[in-house]
Parts: sequence; structure tokens; C-alpha cells
Amino acid sequence: MNKTLEILDHSQPLKDKKIVITAGGTIEKLDPVRYISNFSSGKMGTALADNAYMMGADVELISTFDIERPYKVTKVLSALDMLDAVLKSKENSDCVIMSAAVADYRAENYAEQKIKKTSDDKMTVNLIKNPDILKTISENKGDTKIVGVCAESENLLKNAKIKIKNKGCDYLVANDISRKDIGFSSDENEVYILSENKTKHLKKASKNKIAKQILEYVFCE
Ligand code: CTP
Repeated sequence: MNKTLEILDHSQPLKDKKIVITAGGTIEKLDPVRYISNFSSGKMGTALADNAYMMGADVELISTFDIERPYKVTKVLSALDMLDAVLKSKENSDCVIMSAAVADYRAENYAEQKIKKTSDDKMTVNLIKNPDILKTISENKGDTKIVGVCAESENLLKNAKIKIKNKGCDYLVANDISRKDIGFSSDENEVYILSENKTKHLKKASKNKIAKQILEYVFCE
């Protein structure tokens, strides 16, 4: 158990809230020994889950990493597994935060046996599109607040504004992954939180602090 989580926020502003948070990059298997994934460290999603817990929420973290926490952690691998877990847990939840880096594509055919090298210098893997979990849950959100967390390597705000419309979520946290000092495996981040008519800038800080500010913005402003 993470010792820092024992330091609870005694004002418990998220008491009685059920929050589902996803973290990590999904793993799309090609065969029993190989997969396609991405560089997501899961740190931002885990910081969001830790902070929601410290603020009194009933938390479920759906993660591609194995971690031990004093709240519920559901381990998943692929985007399809994550979709199932999110759909199950979304019922009766007040908020879903999609912080995971979901692979947009998976192998069209999983090979049951290890794929053997051939004499050809090239090989082709056919990929098919994964479901868009954020878009799917935003279509039927009811009273559940839906938060996306996007990664952009250029035109951060322009792309994020298009993305929030396409996905239909209530909030979109925009990360600039072109900067070496923040994002991915870094312990720090600097983000914008977009909603229908507003954009809030959170200046560079630890992922822990950014996570708390995101939760305060979504629930307390
Ligand atoms: N997302 C999702 N399902 C997918 C792809 C993305 O739920 N198949 C969610 C992510 O968890 C994140 C948001 O959509 O909350 C934005 O993810 P991002 O990777 O920035 O965008 P994509 O939709 O993948 O678009 P692109 O790769 O073209 O930027």
C-alpha cells in the first residue's frame, strides 16, 4: 500500500462519489510473445485515482499495470478488455476519467502460436480499429460526468477543441507530449482543461498536484 495515501484529505470533498479512472497504455497482442503498445507510464491516471481516494471518493482504477492500492484496482490488457471493464463499472458511477492511452488499432488476427520468421525481408500485420471507449460512454452518459485525457504532439489547443466535440465528453484534459519536461514518463505535467465553453490552464506542477486540481475543477467549481 502506498504510505502517502494514508494522509487523507479530512474535508473529504468527494465523499459519496463513485469515480472510475483508467490508466496505462493498452496491450494489443500479436501472438503469445509479442504485442503493440505505447509509452504511457500510467502515472497521471494513477495520480488521479490516488487523489480521488484521498478526497474521499469510492474509486476504481482500471489499469494495464499491476499495482497495489487501498482502493479497487482492475487489471486489463487490451482496449477490448478495458471497454468491458469500463462499461461494467460506469453504471452507478458519478464520473469516468479516461486517462488511459488506448491503442487505436489491434491485430486483425491474433496468432495462437509464435509467428515464425520467413525468408522475406518484409512482413505485414493487418490492424483493425479498436472501439473508441470515450466516445462510446459519452453517447450514453446520463448523469455521469465523462472526462477524457488527450495527448497531442502539435497544435495542442486546436486539436483538443476538435477532439472534445468529436468525442462528446464533458471535459477534456489536454497534454502536450512534444515537451520533454512533462507528460509520459515524467513526474510533472502542465495541462489545459477544456469544457464546452471554457478552457482552464493548470501550470506546470507534479502530476499529483495536477491530478488534485483536475478533480477540484471537475467536482468543485
Ligand atoms: N480513447 C478511447 N478509446 C480509443 C482511443 C482513445 O477511449 N480507442 C480516449 C483516451 O483514453 C483519451 C481520449 O480518448 O481519453 C483521447 O485520446 P487520444 O489518444 O488523445 O486521441 P485519439 O482518439 O486516439 O485520437 P488521435 O490518436 O487521432 O489523436
